[in-house]
Amino acid sequence: MIVAIDGPSGTGKSSTSKSVAAALGLSYLDTGAQYRAITWWMLSNGVPVDDQAAVAAAAGKPVIVSGTDPAAPTIAVDGADASVPIRTEEVTAAVSAVSAVPEVRTRITALQRSIAAEAAGGIVVEGRDIGTTVLPDADLKIFLTASPEARAARRSGELKGKEATDVSATREALIKRDAADSGRKTSPLKKADDAVEVDTTELTLEQVVECVVTLVDEAVAAK
Ligand code: DC
Repeated sequence: MIVAIDGPSGTGKSSTSKSVAAALGLSYLDTGAQYRAITWWMLSNGVPVDDQAAVAAAAGKPVIVSGTDPAAPTIAVDGADASVPIRTEEVTAAVSAVSAVPEVRTRITALQRSIAAEAAGGIVVEGRDIGTTVLPDADLKIFLTASPEARAARRSGELKGKEATDVSATREALIKRDAADSGRKTSPLKKADDAVEVDTTELTLEQVVECVVTLVDEAVAAK
């Protein structure tokens, strides 16, 4: 059972994907964390992230390893835990530019496909292009949406305590990042034609999880 969950940031993708995977005994892969990890490596190693040729030349260098237990997902770069530094504002601001570089996407997409192929029992994979490009034959594709206001409020809530933030600045940053992710040439953020769209604006996390679990059960029954 392969479940692809795509959508812009702040729609509840990560929380939903982890909960669905845990409820169904599936593995879990956060592909955004992989793009953040390669971006963090570029920043840490002095690669100018706005220089597409420099990013392309370095794309094969970092060794990125994802742990796929939904109860404790991990991400390591060159053997070191990177789960905290990949969430900084600096990485968030640079990740759209790095993830738009075709050489980066080719490398990370291959990694994602091999992780999905090796996941015994199935996997929930969350991202932006999973249903369209990475795993077009997924058994179930979900596309989560939510209003910009709801998304900004959720993101600010997540950041609270970690970094100073306010909702309007978060909203502007989200809209900017979505525009970059949706507008890039290679594998943009886009709903797959055969994905089920779920608008999470008015739903609690529990309701979204219940809805997706029901859709997985239906997909299993139809197999
Ligand atoms: O889900 P996230 O906010 O952690 O993702 C960080 C960035 O990574 C996002 O702005 C776009 C990029 N990304 C991507 O291009 N393709 C994916 N499958 C997942 C994330």
